[in-house]
Amino acid sequence: MKSLPKKLEDIVKETMSSLEGTAHSYAHVDRVAKIAAILAEEEKADRELVHTATLLHDIGYAIGEPHNETGATFARQILEQSTSIPKQRIESIVKIILRHPIASRDKLETLEEKIVWDADKIDLLGVIGIARVFHWMGKKSFETTVNICLKELKPIYSLLNTSSARKIAKERQRRTTAALSALKEELSTEDLRTS
Ligand SMILES: [Fe+2]
Ligand SMILES: [Fe+2]
Repeated sequence: MKSLPKKLEDIVKETMSSLEGTAHSYAHVDRVAKIAAILAEEEKADRELVHTATLLHDIGYAIGEPHNETGATFARQILEQSTSIPKQRIESIVKIILRHPIASRDKLETLEEKIVWDADKIDLLGVIGIARVFHWMGKKSFETTVNICLKELKPIYSLLNTSSARKIAKERQRRTTAALSALKEELSTEDLRTS
């Protein structure tokens, strides 16, 4: 069990290599793992459960849609084959992965499920979140993407489940609002008006 994190990281990196440069690359997983580690510590949650689930949460993007379901199946398989994690804990990890999408917020039950959900959404806040949406929208117009950001990103902060997430993401939320207003003003050149 002690040597698991490194080995699992390698499996995840290799499996997600085709997603390099996308909004759901291993770099996103790495950032979410760092955010989740802070939240797990603050909330006194099961850190190993949170870390393992976070590493595997988006692996389904390299397999097929719906990514939470393909990822959960892959996670169960790889954890049963390559680790000595007890079956009950594997099922807890599988549930965290299954319930991490935005739409599954109402299904969250355990503290660890809430932490991974929150950490994943914090990576959608601030300038990084806006950059990820622009990347994801590809050739759509800037105006369309800004409107999607206003609709989808602005409400995220109020949906965060844990008080630690709301505490650490406060500044990111301020940046989301500020950056989107600046973008809107610059797209219409209103920021350059002198009177
Ligand atoms: Fe996801
Ligand atoms: Fe994610």
